[in-house]
Amino acid sequence: MSNSNQAQATATWKAYGVGAVPSLAKNPLDFFLNSQRERGDLVPLNLGVAQLLLVHHPDHVRYVLQDNWRNFSKGSMWIAIRKLVGNGLLASEGDYWLRQRRLMQLAFHRQQLADLTTTITDSIDLMLKDWKTASEARQPVEMAHAMSEVTMQIIVRAMFGTGIDRDETRAMVDAFTKALRLMNVRMWTFFLPDFIPLPGDGEFRAVMEQIDRVVYRFIADRRANPSPSGDLLGMLLDMQDQDTGERMTDQQVRDEVFTVFMAGHETSATVMAWVWYLLWQHPEVERRLHRELDEVLGGRVPTFADVPRLTYSRMIIEETMRLYPPAWLIPRTVVADDTIGGHPVKAGTTVLISPYVVHRHPDFWDDAERFDPERFHPERAIPRQAYVPFGEGPRLCIGNNFAIMEMQLILAMAAQAYHTSLKPGIQIQPTTMPVLRPNQDLLMTLYPRTASASGRAWMLQSEEETVAVVDRDRKA
Ligand code: HEM
Repeated sequence: MSNSNQAQATATWKAYGVGAVPSLAKNPLDFFLNSQRERGDLVPLNLGVAQLLLVHHPDHVRYVLQDNWRNFSKGSMWIAIRKLVGNGLLASEGDYWLRQRRLMQLAFHRQQLADLTTTITDSIDLMLKDWKTASEARQPVEMAHAMSEVTMQIIVRAMFGTGIDRDETRAMVDAFTKALRLMNVRMWTFFLPDFIPLPGDGEFRAVMEQIDRVVYRFIADRRANPSPSGDLLGMLLDMQDQDTGERMTDQQVRDEVFTVFMAGHETSATVMAWVWYLLWQHPEVERRLHRELDEVLGGRVPTFADVPRLTYSRMIIEETMRLYPPAWLIPRTVVADDTIGGHPVKAGTTVLISPYVVHRHPDFWDDAERFDPERFHPERAIPRQAYVPFGEGPRLCIGNNFAIMEMQLILAMAAQAYHTSLKPGIQIQPTTMPVLRPNQDLLMTLYPRTASASGRAWMLQSEEETVAVVDRDRKA
């Protein structure tokens, strides 16, 4: 008997019917969370046109994503994602996926990450220049957008080297944000055939053409002028199948480029938006972070060697991803009839795993809604499979180490330079679009912590006085 089947399953399975659709559509996160609280670890959802199973217990998560992963394909909900990323790594299956995974893995090795450190810190530096201007003008910065822009800048530079300017990067951020929003509609109506038109279909096509034009131009330029730049695009074009000696076609490269853009920018960006919000709510955590940054960096730009020493920064990021995992839903489709936790599941059933719910499972997390980076202290064991922000098993996020390093560097450089202070009275809730974003603008005022951030132009206060100003904002 599998681990999954040994897990304590609820004795009866209390299914939802179509009557649940309005509450699911109104607030999917509350719906998922309540389903676990009220109906247990395995909750069938019978929509008539589709059979779904909500899987909440970490043992069952391991069964689906790891122990018996071949029987749980990406399937129907991923059809919408394929419209964006084609047959890229995120959505491909079978032998093709395995071949691409092995090839792409090379691009995410430790040495590659080390080589990317300066690319990342240079991009963050560009953002800090904008922040300096905003700070001096006492203009608040919208943090979710700032994080999207910096992570897009990072991924674009990691992918294409330096050959893309900021205006084009901004246009890409807007186009991708739009494409993701429009794709979300098709994702939730996965049971409708393509010939049934949906609002936004035309706009989606136009946005995709816009992004395609940029990406194919880069591929053509690089094929015409190969350069040993060591960026991801160069690696994708050079990669050769060991058995056949084949290289990727333009279409395959385009699909992998889109995949890395889609998987690798909005995810890290939303985590960082939540980090700023949580730091604002938890001044004691912010103070400890500042102490770590002062001790480890003392005002310097971080290097690759500093990253493992930024322990508390990492703990903050990990705890933020527990509360607000960007990939809040991981869907799979059952290939052949199976059993999960004693519950028979028919082929074709859509299995939905929500890290948002798993990360709050009361059997694994005490006082789960509380933000507490100490949970991720290196000497404390995290409950296995109860923490899956990057998924699990063979399809685990390929960019997880890149993402953690990138977020540590953003946090370190930005928090070293500025105190961030949220406009008083703003209450933020998560929304699913399809990543877990804040539901409204995170307008934050930036108070310089260091002379280099202010150029001494208006850093009139001492650190203590700045802290006092920020604390006063907090209480307002
Ligand atoms: C905080 C940041 C990130 C989060 C939370 C995240 C989350 C995830 C999750 C949950 C999966 C598994 C999906 C599934 O099993 O269906 C995944 C897969 C993937 N991610 Fe990430 N990701 C992040 C950053 C990145 C970055 C920076 C990159 C690339 C630079 C990336 C590239 C990918 C790719 C290519 C896959 C597909 C892997 C495969 O199926 O073999 N991700 N990610």
